[in-house]
Amino acid sequence: MNILVTGGTGYIGSHTIVELIANGHEVSVVDNLANSSVGVISRIKKITGKEPKLYTFDLCDKEATSNLFKKNSFDAVIHFAGLKAVGESVQLPLTYYENNLLSTISLLNAMLDNDVDRLIFSSSATVYGSTDTTRYRETLPAGHDISNPYGRTKYMIEEMIKDIGNANDSFEATILRYFNPIGAHESGEIGENPLGLPNNLMPFITQVATGKREELLIFGNDYPTEDGTCKRDFIHVVDLARGHVAALKKSSPGTHIYNLGSGIPTSVLQLVNTFSSISGKSIKYRFTSRREGDLAEFYADPSKAELELGWKVEKSIEDMCRDTWNWQLKNPNGYDR
Ligand SMILES: NC(=O)c1ccc[n+]([C@@H]2O[C@H](COP(=O)([O-])OP(=O)(O)OC[C@H]3O[C@@H](n4cnc5c(N)ncnc54)[C@H](O)[C@@H]3O)[C@@H](O)[C@H]2O)c1
Repeated sequence: MNILVTGGTGYIGSHTIVELIANGHEVSVVDNLANSSVGVISRIKKITGKEPKLYTFDLCDKEATSNLFKKNSFDAVIHFAGLKAVGESVQLPLTYYENNLLSTISLLNAMLDNDVDRLIFSSSATVYGSTDTTRYRETLPAGHDISNPYGRTKYMIEEMIKDIGNANDSFEATILRYFNPIGAHESGEIGENPLGLPNNLMPFITQVATGKREELLIFGNDYPTEDGTCKRDFIHVVDLARGHVAALKKSSPGTHIYNLGSGIPTSVLQLVNTFSSISGKSIKYRFTSRREGDLAEFYADPSKAELELGWKVEKSIEDMCRDTWNWQLKNPNGYDR
């Protein structure tokens, strides 16, 4: 298939492109490089032998988006593009609503105008909001008490996609709700490369391991878990990427929602300790007060994806730590921009 990957120079997009190419697909990329580096493209070529075509523009630009669709014939779109920093979205809500919603509206318009009716959308476990259960199934009601504007943009886009599906019988939409992707490609050629202050735990851990940061702050050690720190569902980014290939293969009319997670809860402290033993580096950390909105524990019930997509994770927490460390050692300064 000829696939357009939006946000394809980003962390998850780049790993997904490698898996798409490995499965024989042709890939084009749109990215405005707001949170990524052009150097990703040559790294993808190094791994796969193929260079995806990169279009550098902002998807909020309706005309540029429309022109891209007029000049190409795409069979499917995988939509990763968006801003994703939870904390920043609380500070700059309008920036998040504007970027994430307008880019998606522009993209969906271009798809419908050009009869491209197969979409895979990057959503997040954040859309489950606050619930009284820890194991999340797709049947849980979503959208209540979402703790930040970023998560609300994901929920709003999910609803928008469902409405479009209701109005167009041939529209095939797959919404993938990711849990916590970490790790890197085992080649060490591509990985997570935060351009500013990291938003997620793993890049913080690696920055402490390399001495770029003095210590890791762990928010809360008085949660009702075995070691008092929060438990999350970490998923290797390559497993996550393969989930997209599986979803594409099984795409069918209607709107389908799947959790992509490992189904295994791991505590923050367990992750830190595993990383430390694999890298041989001691990770200095300090406990500080809980972060508002953080839940003690949640993880995916991934059984629907296994049953319907024939997909499940293959990689362990040890693999995630080993591949992250390998990426970090090979690229101490990330990509050359
Ligand atoms: N990484 C996670 O923990 C996580 C978890 C759940 C969901 N997601 C979602 O998955 C998707 C990919 O995440 P990621 O971690 O790879 O993030 P990322 O920031 O590495 O990649 C997103 C890419 O989108 C691009 N982009 C943003 N706005 C754009 C616009 N208007 N036009 C064109 N390009 C634009 C950025 O430059 C970046 O390359 C995002 O939608 C994110 O919200 C990520």
